[in-house]
Amino acid sequence: MTAKTKPTILIVVGITGDLSHRKLLPAIEQIVKAQAAPEKFEVVGISRRDVTAAEVLKGSMAEVQKGFLSKHLNMFQMDLSNPADYNRLKDYLKELEVQMGAPAQRLFYLSVPPQISEPIIRCLGEVGLAESSDTKLLLEKPFGTDLTSAQELITQTRKYFKEEQIYRIDHYLAKDMAQNLVVFRGGNSLFKRTWNKDFIERIQVVASEAIDIEGRTTFYEQTGALRDVVQSHLLQLAALTLMQSPEVGQVSEVPKHRLAALKQLQLPAGQPITNSVKRAQYKGYQRDVNNPDSRTETFVSLTLESQDPAWAGVPIQLITGKSLKEKLTEIRITYKKEQQFEANELVIKFQPHEEIELCLWIKVPGYEWRVERHFLQLEFNEQFGEIREAYEQVLLDAIVGNHTFFTSSEEVLETWRILQPILSAWSMQDQDLQLYPPGTDYQELM
Ligand code: BG6
Repeated sequence: MTAKTKPTILIVVGITGDLSHRKLLPAIEQIVKAQAAPEKFEVVGISRRDVTAAEVLKGSMAEVQKGFLSKHLNMFQMDLSNPADYNRLKDYLKELEVQMGAPAQRLFYLSVPPQISEPIIRCLGEVGLAESSDTKLLLEKPFGTDLTSAQELITQTRKYFKEEQIYRIDHYLAKDMAQNLVVFRGGNSLFKRTWNKDFIERIQVVASEAIDIEGRTTFYEQTGALRDVVQSHLLQLAALTLMQSPEVGQVSEVPKHRLAALKQLQLPAGQPITNSVKRAQYKGYQRDVNNPDSRTETFVSLTLESQDPAWAGVPIQLITGKSLKEKLTEIRITYKKEQQFEANELVIKFQPHEEIELCLWIKVPGYEWRVERHFLQLEFNEQFGEIREAYEQVLLDAIVGNHTFFTSSEEVLETWRILQPILSAWSMQDQDLQLYPPGTDYQELM
């Protein structure tokens, strides 16, 4: 069944939030415009206050305000901490289904902090809103705040929802370039055969951002760069890079291979954490969050190793931060060399453009024998036109029930297992937190 033939009600908890405005609402509009959305499709926005659909849409793009959502966003006011309100919601959804004229699957999309999602899940379960197999739960990261809380959240959620009903969103996995990585490294013999420790010297996964925390004060103070970006996006990109390549066409095997790759990752054993992890905070952050004592990191870089023999001795560096010199997201693969001019680098770029770049040495044409480094580039925008936004894919995959590019509970636990020693060490002391001026190049902080 395609998304178009699946009558769907998408229930959005957190509709007035930043993520909904910036990503979700435009993505809904876009899949409708591309004629990929269900033909029978309604969106229900949950809010505590009495807000109209027009008010919710007002902060979004003009296209969203005038398009599909102006007719199909239904607002439902309720108190999320009041179990009785969930019964009202249940009746409301039944009524909406009658109006749609067909049984519709229900997608509950929770864009709320992890501390709040657990009681919401419990209430949904207790009024019987989780029972039907045609009900799905879409969860935004972070999934817990450490290994123990993630385990707890998973156990609680499983009381009401089966694993097949749960879609843990990591929008990096839904990015075209992340998915392309599977094909690029597995489908080209040149790279497939050299994708290991014998040829590769180092792997870097970088997500540098020029923006600061943009007013997300409470969220960021409780989260920090390690939990916000490393636990999810960067570890998943690392897993896609390190995993065994699935057989051609066997894309459904990707989650199994990602999990196996995560299981092999760890911090270097027998060393103090500060040898492999650096953290820093941009100057002005304490003012931004109105907390002069804040020790939350806005930058982190860490070096991991894999126990997979294919990657023995290859450092895997994960780097992210806010208020840095530029927006740049990339996976940088540095190849081994015997002489300086042999050094090759393959860079898989997500931001600022989706691009694959291979750095090669060539002789510059001319009378002299001059060797220089140049780049072979494949720019995706130029080749394929505009690239779809990750959230469009997230929605369509959840609607049709394709879990391949969502995070499983086992993966979530593995990522927290990898990072837990850092969290434990940081909870004891914060002497190693450095300060950096906004606009710093990430390489100066590593
Ligand atoms: C989100 C983080 O998951 O990813 C944000 O919470 C970050 O802090 C964002 O800015 C980056 O996403 P993208 O797609 O713009 O690289």
